[in-house]
Amino acid sequence: EEDRRQRLRQVLDLAARLYHHLLTRTEYGKAARDYLQKRGIEHRTIEEFQLGYAPDSYHFLLRFMKRRGYDERLLMEAGLVAEREHSTGRPSYFDRFRRRVMFPIHDSQGRVIGFGGRMLGEGHPKYLNSPETDLFHKGKFLFNLHRARKVIRRENQAVLFEGYMDVISAWQAGICGGVASLGTSLTDSQARVIRRNAETAVICYDSDTAGNAAAERGLDVLKKRDCIVKVARMPDGMDPDDYIRERGSDSFRSDVIAQALPFAAFKLESLKKEFDLKDEEQRMRYLTRAVEVIADLPLAIERDHYLRRLAEEFHISLDALKQEHRGIASKKK
Ligand code: UTP
Ligand code: MN
Ligand code: MN
Ligand code: MN
Ligand code: MN
Repeated sequence: EEDRRQRLRQVLDLAARLYHHLLTRTEYGKAARDYLQKRGIEHRTIEEFQLGYAPDSYHFLLRFMKRRGYDERLLMEAGLVAEREHSTGRPSYFDRFRRRVMFPIHDSQGRVIGFGGRMLGEGHPKYLNSPETDLFHKGKFLFNLHRARKVIRRENQAVLFEGYMDVISAWQAGICGGVASLGTSLTDSQARVIRRNAETAVICYDSDTAGNAAAERGLDVLKKRDCIVKVARMPDGMDPDDYIRERGSDSFRSDVIAQALPFAAFKLESLKKEFDLKDEEQRMRYLTRAVEVIADLPLAIERDHYLRRLAEEFHISLDALKQEHRGIASKKK
């Protein structure tokens, strides 16, 4: 059993090296090199993340590995090939990743456990990830954790992204404590991993409907594990990688990451968007809901701070807000 896991690790490691070689040193990788260059990915980044390329072929990796003595079953179990039933009844195997830029995924010790592959140009699915295998459990790992961990511990802060390219662009921009849960929403075990390494988590998801919803869910999961959570914001429609390309690394660090809003401020701000504050009745409804959000905060000083801010912002008496707050707080008991 241990022997089989060892073989799995070997074949995944070899695959990562094969893909990386194809990207960086061969004619097969030319289009992918151009693609990455167009996206602003530097050489040093390709090396740091060991990016690769899977050629447009159904048997490139399969043949390469078979020549080296790895059989189809093992390649299946590693998630590198898929099988299809043949009319003869015998299964036939083919490379899972084709015509894709390859992102190796490592466990916390830096061993390759899977891959994400991005289609060159347009096509479906845009990203293809390794299936669940004995080594690769989606809800358990965080992309880039093994590289980022030192920085995360030093800064006592982790930055959470949605995607591979966001982590990588942020790294190029000097934000090296970035990890990603890769499209799936953050799980409790991922939140625990973060909390084990840092007190603060900055959520820096795409500024779109899906990203905002994921941020709200992530917030709750992280809060439950006692993280200090902040939320970074970008103009609508942008993701971190877009932002860095359009506005530069300095602005990303100082205007996005450093300006991330504390949890409560973010909640109040997103709540605000649901109301038309010029309308008096809607304004009152917003205030009521805002006081509810504030009543949920764990610390009395925090609640006091946000009540004061609300009072100032809407020119109402703090007393009235506090009265409202007491009403809600007593109902919650
Ligand atoms: P996005 O759609 O935001 O992609 O998905 P992206 O990272 O910005 O990709 P680019 O910039 O177009 O290259 C965010 C993450 O969700 C996962 C991937 O991990 C991706 O990085 N995802 C997305 C998938 O697993 N499959 C998909 O088809 C799309
Ligand atoms: Mn290299
Ligand atoms: Mn998105
Ligand atoms: Mn995105
Ligand atoms: Mn993107």
